[in-house]
Amino acid sequence: MSAAALLEIDHLSIRYATPRGTVQAVRDVNLTIRRGEVIGLVGESGSGKSSLVSSMMALLPDNAAVDGRLRFEGTDIVALPETGRRQLRGNGIAAIFQDPFTALNPVVTIGDLLVAVQHHDHGAGTREKRRRATEMMARVGISDAGRRLRQYPFELSGGMRQRVAIAAALLTHPTLLIADEPTTALDATTEAQIIDLLRRNRSAVDGAIVFVTHHLGLVAQLCDRVAVMYAGEIVETGPVGAVFANPRHPYTRALIACEPALIRAATRRLPTIGGAPPDLTAPPAGCGFAPRCPLADETCRSLAPPVVATGENATARCHKVLP
Ligand SMILES: Nc1ncnc2c1ncn2[C@@H]1O[C@H](COP(=O)(O)OP(=O)(O)O)[C@@H](O)[C@H]1O
Ligand SMILES: [Mg+2]
Repeated sequence: MSAAALLEIDHLSIRYATPRGTVQAVRDVNLTIRRGEVIGLVGESGSGKSSLVSSMMALLPDNAAVDGRLRFEGTDIVALPETGRRQLRGNGIAAIFQDPFTALNPVVTIGDLLVAVQHHDHGAGTREKRRRATEMMARVGISDAGRRLRQYPFELSGGMRQRVAIAAALLTHPTLLIADEPTTALDATTEAQIIDLLRRNRSAVDGAIVFVTHHLGLVAQLCDRVAVMYAGEIVETGPVGAVFANPRHPYTRALIACEPALIRAATRRLPTIGGAPPDLTAPPAGCGFAPRCPLADETCRSLAPPVVATGENATARCHKVLP
């Protein structure tokens, strides 16, 4: 493992057993997440983003089967027993989801929750933990902390709940913070505030942040590197500036080309491209994007594309890598 690698994803595949067949949600993903970076994971709905990040937290549902390796600081998460997984989630990896209710226990007050998340810190007493909770609330823009600490999640607005979820995540001092579409359910103003909050608190995560979003403008604002997913595969990775200025995969180019303003924060939705992704219960032998790709030929339709190095830490999985 190289010195800077925090999470190494090695030939990872995730399949779900369903009544209509096996869904190949993540297909042979290779990705290294380095200490200190913020990586954006983008792709249309159903492309496998949530499955991929859930596997990083060992939080996949029971009908999921995983192949490959996911090494977090050298430990293989896939092979870890449940006790080790729980340990990992409270101490090392933290997540913020689209619906913050997922992280907030409805019958526990905000104050008790923000104390409870610090349970791995045996050195500090409840008083100290409450003090830290109050301090963190101010940091995430919650005023009137004294009153808020006594409230229950249902008493807060969606934006306020998301701030609490972020505070809870940051209080665990995660090495890896995963944010899965944390602002999708919020209005544009609240979204902007939450993004600003994540940006300003970037240094509180002494590791890496994986930011999952539909919103390419947010990736431009928040991330160092981007990984583009399509039909369960990572089709392109690279530094944000390079990928947005000169996408090398036709899918990435299509995403960027169909909305010139997308780098600006004003664009909240991933642009739509004609056609639909393949059925993941029977993925095609060739490139999954071929039916929608203007450059596709017979090779693309019949042979799986190679992963081509397009620069330093940059790849495109394509037969027709763009110049
Ligand atoms: N628990 C599940 N059981 C069966 N299929 C699932 C489950 N979760 C997700 N899927 C399927 O896996 C694919 C990828 O989904 P997901 O990881 O949620 O993608 P994204 O987050 O990019 O929208 C989709 O086809 C979805 O329907
Ligand atoms: Mg998702």
